[in-house]
Amino acid sequence: MRIRPFMPNDIPAIASIVRDALRENYPTSLYLDIHRWWRDGFLVADLDGHPVGFLAAVLSADGQARVLMFAVTAGFRRRGFGSQMMNAFIQVCAMRGIRRIELEVRISNDEAIRFYKRYGFEIAQNLPKFYTDGEDGYKMIRHL
Ligand SMILES: CC(C)(COP(=O)(O)OP(=O)(O)OC[C@H]1O[C@@H](n2cnc3c(N)ncnc32)[C@H](O)[C@@H]1OP(=O)(O)O)[C@@H](O)C(=O)NCCC(=O)NCCS
Repeated sequence: MRIRPFMPNDIPAIASIVRDALRENYPTSLYLDIHRWWRDGFLVADLDGHPVGFLAAVLSADGQARVLMFAVTAGFRRRGFGSQMMNAFIQVCAMRGIRRIELEVRISNDEAIRFYKRYGFEIAQNLPKFYTDGEDGYKMIRHL
């Protein structure tokens, strides 16, 4: 497995991961926009030429990054791919002079919350009814 930058021809594979893992359906243009906003913040976990996970982030304010999407294909979890992507992303942020990384997560998503805590993220805020289905979210923040 190698971590590499996103390429536009990854979109079908990534959209499929998003449908399965995040239960969302986004237009192709969204991935292209994120890529255009911050190329270095869009990483793919590539296993023998096939994307098995990705992390997409934007620069949300001066010295701040926001993770918009982060997922690994269900059958490939708990093998360290998520950790490798997060480590690579933190390195990108450090090189860019980012001081703060923020993200949102469903309050029911224990697996992701545990993962983020291991990576130094802390729950900073409750986000009532943050998700379209009415579920609350947490804003989590990590300082670099
Ligand atoms: C969050 C997510 C991206 C993590 O990806 P991952 O590839 O499973 O991450 P890792 O394998 O690096 O670590 C996950 C767990 O597996 C464990 N693990 C890592 N390598 C392992 C191995 N070889 N054997 C067994 N366990 C292992 C880690 O200790 C970690 O444990 P934890 O849950 O107690 O923290 C993944 O769970 C996911 O895609 N979830 C669904 C989408 C989602 O919720 N995204 C976040 C939305 S905000």
